[in-house]
Amino acid sequence: MTEVTDLYAARVADGTLQADPAQEAVLPEFERIRSALAEPAKRGLFRKAPPPPEGLYLWGGVGRGKSMLMDLFVETLGEIPNRRVHFHAFMQEIHAQLHEARQGNAEDALAPVAAGVARDVRVLAFDEMQITDITDAMIVGRLFEALFDAGVVVVTTSNRVPDDLYKDGLNRQLFLPFIQLIKERMVVWELTSPTDYRQDRLEGAQVYFTPIGPEARAAIRAVWTDLSGGAAEPLHLKVKGRDVVLPAFRNGVARASFYDLCGRMLGPADYLAVAEAVRVLVLEDIPRLSRNNFNEAKRFVTLIDALYEARVRLICSAAAEPEMLYVEGEGTFEFERTASRLREMMAADWGQ
Ligand SMILES: Nc1ncnc2c1ncn2[C@@H]1O[C@H](COP(=O)(O)OP(=O)(O)OP(=O)(O)O)[C@@H](O)[C@H]1O
Ligand SMILES: [Mg+2]
Repeated sequence: MTEVTDLYAARVADGTLQADPAQEAVLPEFERIRSALAEPAKRGLFRKAPPPPEGLYLWGGVGRGKSMLMDLFVETLGEIPNRRVHFHAFMQEIHAQLHEARQGNAEDALAPVAAGVARDVRVLAFDEMQITDITDAMIVGRLFEALFDAGVVVVTTSNRVPDDLYKDGLNRQLFLPFIQLIKERMVVWELTSPTDYRQDRLEGAQVYFTPIGPEARAAIRAVWTDLSGGAAEPLHLKVKGRDVVLPAFRNGVARASFYDLCGRMLGPADYLAVAEAVRVLVLEDIPRLSRNNFNEAKRFVTLIDALYEARVRLICSAAAEPEMLYVEGEGTFEFERTASRLREMMAADWGQ
């Protein structure tokens, strides 16, 4: 079995990672968990199983390497049953299961649902824990308590210090025990690296590929593989009861085609939700726009506005340069701003 520290060192040695003292400093925390779980259970008649190790709540600014470190840790777990999942996706599963359990008239729906989760794993690795939704806020406390009690070790990444979770949220006082629970059962660690590696990786890189063709496709695939760094999953965003789907998502990076996002009946609220959920959007196959696809074009304008406001990085392939995407018919005037924003978003320092 590989130790987390060794795996990190190997990645530095083969040039995949730059050595970063702030990242190195947290490796022993991951290793503490891995080694505790890797120990063969010396369970005898009179020996109680040792208590599970404390989890880890790793927080800090964007692009510092939190998700990368967590993935590295998960890689070292080997046979130890684990699951790495985006926090938002996990909570959606929980809500669906709660819904089902309630149909079955379970008195306390949360207990069997938590037990079901705990049955399959010893480690839950959550990427991007954030709580913005009151329905999440009101159940996480009891959910996590049940998971901890069942011996599950939780590792999570977040952009916020625990005390700022669900900040200014409705009924926040009911949420405070969850913060307390995190502090009791997890080591809270700030990753203070000065480098935003995501920005670093994109610095000077081409982000706008035209025309659409095999070359653009291959280039986009390469950027996506580099940034996402692992198997992606769809991300479902619930917006006013609607299901907005990003077909592939990992590590803050989403990949979608123009038609996925602009060919469907989506509106400003949906694009705001998308812009909020991702740091980088890889958008493929933006066609030439005209009155023939006026609705798609209008949605594209709204999407770019939302991404621009949220300072999301955009990497895309398009049929033409921004200024040549929409050259005739109604809407060309509005599109000038979009073209100019697209230009700006191509700049090396965009989003910093
Ligand atoms: N030491 C490093 N050397 C080279 N690349 C790195 C290093 N650390 C992280 N990266 C890369 O930088 C990118 C951003 O890292 P990562 O996704 O882990 O950041 P994060 O802290 O999770 O950011 P966010 O808060 O936005 O989720 C990834 O592509 C990752 O592989
Ligand atoms: Mg991350």
